[in-house]
Amino acid sequence: MKNLETNYKFSAYDIIAKKRDGYKLSDAEIKWFIAGVTDKSVSDYQMSALLMAIYLKGFDKSETASLTDAMLFSGSTINFEGVDVIDKHSTGGVGDKASFILAPIAHAAGVKVPMMAGRGLGHTGGTIDKVESIKGFKTSLTLKEFKEAVDKNRMALIGQTGEIAPADKKIYALRDVTATVDSIPLITASIMSKKLAEGANGIVMDIKTGSGAFMKTRANARALGKSLRDTATRFDKKMLTMITDMNQPLGEAVGNSLEIIESIEVLKNRGPKDITDISVELAGAMIYLAEITKTYKAGVKKAKEVLKNGKALESFRDLIRLQGGDELVVDDYSRLPLAKNTKEILSTNAGYITSIACQEFGEHVVTLGGGRKKTEDLIDFGVGFIVHKCVGQKVKKGEKLVTVYFNDNQRKLVEEIEEEILKQNIKIKATKPKVLKPLIYDIDENPLC
Ligand code: URA
Repeated sequence: MKNLETNYKFSAYDIIAKKRDGYKLSDAEIKWFIAGVTDKSVSDYQMSALLMAIYLKGFDKSETASLTDAMLFSGSTINFEGVDVIDKHSTGGVGDKASFILAPIAHAAGVKVPMMAGRGLGHTGGTIDKVESIKGFKTSLTLKEFKEAVDKNRMALIGQTGEIAPADKKIYALRDVTATVDSIPLITASIMSKKLAEGANGIVMDIKTGSGAFMKTRANARALGKSLRDTATRFDKKMLTMITDMNQPLGEAVGNSLEIIESIEVLKNRGPKDITDISVELAGAMIYLAEITKTYKAGVKKAKEVLKNGKALESFRDLIRLQGGDELVVDDYSRLPLAKNTKEILSTNAGYITSIACQEFGEHVVTLGGGRKKTEDLIDFGVGFIVHKCVGQKVKKGEKLVTVYFNDNQRKLVEEIEEEILKQNIKIKATKPKVLKPLIYDIDENPLC
């Protein structure tokens, strides 16, 4: 990246042009721009233009640090006492409902869990959108209420408040609609500004890689891991990073209410194996970072124990009740909003599933209204998919591949989606794929960064 010393007065136009032309921005320029986004003296369209310039020309380590600090200190920060205050964050995937499973597991094992999560971004679903499908569940606590809830109940789940990293709230929404999501510096600053502000002392970072992730290659996932760890080190926080597979939806359910149901099924010990396994591993990492166990392996063992004996399910029920939600959904899924119509998509030939286009399933959910195309869009909690098969599985002709949940006025749309799924999204071949992708590629267990 070229370095250009300039002496001009700051203006949004000049800063955008400087980055557009590939020059390095100074700490003062970045902080001035982000302060302007927060106090609205810089407009959304100017921020959008800068986002695209950063996306195309990149940010180096020090620019990323300046952006993270500018976003972090755009709002308030809190601090929790104790080594046992641990959060987890995923870089985003399709069908990734692990937070609803691992947070109660970690909580039941003795971890204090202050979880601040996001809304859907691009083709990926958001934890906050999903949990809001539970009637009454309040995700907008003030920071004070959040801190009190975590201190009292040892767990809370909230969306980003106006107080926490307000610059990220704005920028996140703009990235979602300007095709500027999958950028390592932007993801680093976005995640770390929130995670550092919410005051956890350790963070387990699930970095997704594959066709349904923002990081399509493992090299990029590793680079993102390094960038996140560099930031954690700067702030003296413990961090454990995992690089995990996102080449097919996690679990079977994709869509807001459907994913809540599947999470509860996992907590009842009868959910799909992949989402169960990954949630247990991530919860085990949280238990280890909280210093409840001496090793990561022992953390995973503890996680399995509290899942099996039902304590994690009770933690989830408590969480729903404590945040004003309808806890009866745990035993009665009909209390969740689900679209009235279903359509089964059947296999048109026999063979083995060789690939499932993960990102496309996320995009289909957005098309049906389960995600946003524009920042002001409302979410339809009830639409989505159950993907009955996974890569490597044998399938007969006429066998059920996918069930679509949709609304009355979406029949034509569903026909188009069906055609796309059968022709392009699910590939079936006569021979079994030789190498199946592992669920976890890499774990960097060194929590001290
Ligand atoms: N999660 C976030 O909070 N921000 C991103 O940019 C990506 C995932």
